[in-house]
Amino acid sequence: MSNPSSERLRIALQKSGRLADNSRELLQRCGLRISPNREGLVWTGENLPIDLMLVRDDDIPTLVADGHCDVGIVGQNIAREAACEARDAGDSTGYEELLPLDFGYCRLSLAKPREAAFSTLADLAGKRIATSYPASLQAHLRDNDVDADVVLLSGSVELAPRLGKADAICDLVSTGATLAANDLVEMLTILESRATLIRATRPLSDSSEALLTRLLKRMQGVLRGRESRYIMLHAPRDRLAEVHDLLPGAEAPTVLTLDGRPDRVAVHAVCNEQVFWETLEALKEVGASAILVLPVEKMLA
Ligand code: PRP
Ligand code: ZN
Repeated sequence: MSNPSSERLRIALQKSGRLADNSRELLQRCGLRISPNREGLVWTGENLPIDLMLVRDDDIPTLVADGHCDVGIVGQNIAREAACEARDAGDSTGYEELLPLDFGYCRLSLAKPREAAFSTLADLAGKRIATSYPASLQAHLRDNDVDADVVLLSGSVELAPRLGKADAICDLVSTGATLAANDLVEMLTILESRATLIRATRPLSDSSEALLTRLLKRMQGVLRGRESRYIMLHAPRDRLAEVHDLLPGAEAPTVLTLDGRPDRVAVHAVCNEQVFWETLEALKEVGASAILVLPVEKMLA
């Protein structure tokens, strides 16, 4: 379909729910200033030609595929379900996953009532499984040659066994609290999921493509920054190799002389992995002192 405001990149985001706050915050960290239109569906980017469409997460893949939006942030669970549906219907998906993000972690799992006698996937043959993810579930059953009845429910899937509508369920699990509250136990995981950036497969206008490339680079920079730490410490010059080996994911540290201390040096390094207390304790063991660990706000490789 034609895009009336083709010079603005339209990004679909979850309006409220598990991804909503993190999605908006990520775009703000990428430098986007938003003027929120609290009641409205469309929020306007003030300093970049971007419009945010605040919608139900389940609608995001379709909005991107059918041309109403160019880009979306959505759970892989929903992106993959829509992709399975399209494949089952012999259609092309219309969008692709560009970048897995660092929030919205959950899993799509099969679960059963605690007292149920069955326990394996094979045991589900001939049983009824309630889910809001019929295509993903069917694909998994098909791949494993299990023939079960898939009962489609749009919500409150966890109530289905108690209501006698199903023998088992296939639903999202994050903390596991919903399962526990309904006396259900997890059997196995079908899909590990987190938020992901998706884009329309069709080419966008040149300016939107350029903006998307920039945005993608910035997002990668934010993600890298979030998992990176800047470490500064003093160390004995003759134990530098050991210090270097202890710094997680650091490439070439900067080594600086310390005034009046020929035996010791200052070491500065970007660590691209988590820095645990154990690492700092090990650094002290090899003679490091004055250890500082700082967050990295942005990182452009
Ligand atoms: C999911 C799922 C469960 C709950 C599990 O729903 O359907 O109800 O989260 O989370 P827990 O393991 O932390 O208890 P969600 O809130 O994502 O709503 P939606 O699927 O309708 O968007
Ligand atoms: Zn939803």
